[in-house]
Amino acid sequence: MKFGNQSDSQTQVVGMIAGQPIRANQLTRSDSTWQNGYGTPSDGNDTNSQNKPTRKLTKDAKSIIIYFSRSGSTELLASKIAKQTDADILEIVVKNPYSGNYKKTLARANSERESANYPELDMNVPDLSQYKTVYLGYPIWAMTLSHPMTEFLTDYGSRLSNKKIAPFMTEGGYGQGDSVDRIKQILKSQGATNDTFTKALVVDGNKVNKADERVDHWVKDVK
Ligand SMILES: Cc1cc2nc3c(=O)[nH]c(=O)nc-3n(C[C@H](O)[C@H](O)[C@H](O)COP(=O)(O)O)c2cc1C
Repeated sequence: MKFGNQSDSQTQVVGMIAGQPIRANQLTRSDSTWQNGYGTPSDGNDTNSQNKPTRKLTKDAKSIIIYFSRSGSTELLASKIAKQTDADILEIVVKNPYSGNYKKTLARANSERESANYPELDMNVPDLSQYKTVYLGYPIWAMTLSHPMTEFLTDYGSRLSNKKIAPFMTEGGYGQGDSVDRIKQILKSQGATNDTFTKALVVDGNKVNKADERVDHWVKDVK
């Protein structure tokens, strides 16, 4: 068992996003060793210990992928959607990244949730008015949205008015929880109106490398 081994998260390149490598060591784990994501380490900097936060912003794109990923699975899923769509890409970045250590991340996430004190972001969010479709990607934490996405929607939700929202997520095998309802609630509370939702894409975090066909079908449905 290699849980907590930081070095393999440094070396395992599983894909590319906007010209930068994606590392997600859990993709090699079978379900029994992955244990529903329990114990999954990260690079300690929310996928960015060796990368700059992903940011691909063009003048003409009509869709954008906005995602958060701690240990790389959601980032890999975002990269697959990017390949099929030519969408712009914006990674959600928190000021104080989550620990590479799973148990420390869990403890922090539990305390943030109990106090509803979500992490401060450290990113410039562009004017989103050019986009008709927003692909929103996140890992499931405690059967709901992971906190950086909660904070992003709270801070910038009003900019998602009148858009098609396409939620995608990775999870430990327990499904999407109430995450899509949470997105709807937060957007509403921020005054976003007329947004429409597509079916969500839900992929096990250790199987994103086997999800190409599902991504393909989902993207066609969203478009
Ligand atoms: C703090 C925390 C809480 C989690 N809670 C759940 C959960 O409730 N249900 C679930 O299926 N997976 C859960 N997971 C597993 C993650 O959803 C899964 O590993 C996901 O693929 C991680 O995505 P990422 O690599 O993009 O960060 C949790 C992971 C963490 C770090």
